[in-house]
Amino acid sequence: VESPSSLILLFGATGDLAKRKLYPSLYNLYIKGQLSDRFAVVGVARRLKNDAELREWVKDSILTYGESENEKDINAFTSHFYYQSHDVTDSASYKQLKTLVDRLDKEYELGGNRIFYLAMSPEFFGTVAEHLKEDGLTDTNGFKRLVIEKPFGHDLQSAIKLNNQIRKAFDEDEIYRIDHYLGKEMVQNIEVIRFSNAIFEPLWNNRYISNIQITSSETLGVEERANYYDKSGAIRDMVQNHMMQMVTLLAMEPPIKLTTDEIRSEKVKVLRALRPVDKKNIHDYFVRGQYGKGQINGKEVVGYRQEMNVPEDSNTETYFAGKLLIDNFRWAGVPFYVRTGKRMAAKSTKIVIQFKDIPMNLYFKTGSNLKPNLLVIHIQPDEGITLHLNVKKAGQGIVTTPIKLKYSTKGVDGMNTPEAYEKLLYDCLRGDATNFTHWDEVALSWQFVDEISAVWENEPAVFPNYPAGSMGPKEADLLLEKDGFSWWSIIDE
Ligand code: BG6
Repeated sequence: VESPSSLILLFGATGDLAKRKLYPSLYNLYIKGQLSDRFAVVGVARRLKNDAELREWVKDSILTYGESENEKDINAFTSHFYYQSHDVTDSASYKQLKTLVDRLDKEYELGGNRIFYLAMSPEFFGTVAEHLKEDGLTDTNGFKRLVIEKPFGHDLQSAIKLNNQIRKAFDEDEIYRIDHYLGKEMVQNIEVIRFSNAIFEPLWNNRYISNIQITSSETLGVEERANYYDKSGAIRDMVQNHMMQMVTLLAMEPPIKLTTDEIRSEKVKVLRALRPVDKKNIHDYFVRGQYGKGQINGKEVVGYRQEMNVPEDSNTETYFAGKLLIDNFRWAGVPFYVRTGKRMAAKSTKIVIQFKDIPMNLYFKTGSNLKPNLLVIHIQPDEGITLHLNVKKAGQGIVTTPIKLKYSTKGVDGMNTPEAYEKLLYDCLRGDATNFTHWDEVALSWQFVDEISAVWENEPAVFPNYPAGSMGPKEADLLLEKDGFSWWSIIDE
């Protein structure tokens, strides 16, 4: 279905995100007929000169990162792009922008619909939002929406400040805070698996589930992002947003309807039920790590403190593991183990739901060691689910053997699942904010994360404590061992 006509005003038009994700995604929507013919994009940046240069830039991005090489289509697409050199702190610059936007609005008959996409350095988010209002860009008859990339603040306090700034120009339901994990195919599938199958939901509670494990591991290191990352660390970079979002989707109650508000309110309840951090016993619940030198895919790599632009005594964590408890009727007593890190053994995001053992093993005497039932949700690089069961081993006697029932979405009709950004852009164009984070979620997640960072910041860390290419510090294993569990492997067999 085609989305409504609109103008996209993109701040950060020459940035990395625009180049790698936004242009190729928008192009895919265009090719699939999901973008109205009546659309225009105004790219705002500093380093280019004119429309022609931006169009070349966009074309190059699609050829490099997209799936098409059809020059005719690409040229038709890029003809909708306009460039404006811009100074984000200067009112005159916004007034010029307004003239251009108003002109394109008439030319393309866009009905005043506007999307303001901030794919730029977060320090300017507040300033830009304020100027958009003051200089009349948000003054329109159509819809106006603000799309904002992470990080949304550095902690609760800065997030509140930022939120107050953008709320002067946009209402909460006009703000689309991106968490690109919410655009991933299998993250969107969590609710569907839970709420469209009769066999899971009755078991989805503390009577039948013993623990849930969420892992998001990366092989990449800090790359060229140390200036941002060293002030952030794994807890702010990955836990406050992506990991917490996955926890809420797994733990939420069924919403009464699939509307944005109903879903959000169930997610918020999960965050409100999170057990507050016990500062005195923080080591029993949370582990931090930083990688030292090691090997990734057989190649030597340096430790975090030796990376470009990282101070040699940096105490920033590149790894986080935590045991989260949700104090409500459904989840009391079920640990949610969460871990994420850079320079780990594999790139993988996976959720393992481990069911409780059956009351007794009838097959013990025949030598059968029953394995726990697991439901594994493969977010990436594989996409699908696996259900682990015990069955009879074929042949004489009654001996059991574990098997896996597997479903992989990559196999469906040979279709590639659309990129997260393609889905999120499409949602935003159609005004569906379900897969974006509400302010309440942002605030509650920061509150939780801040409690942990407050303790960590005042305690010296013993870093590095895991070699690159490993699965993290051994304390993370102890976290589960104390409870009688262990991490399930993230490598797919
Ligand atoms: C981003 C983080 O939000 O997510 C990065 O800032 C991280 O540090 C990335 O590498 C991981 O995303 P994905 O989609 O590759 O799992």
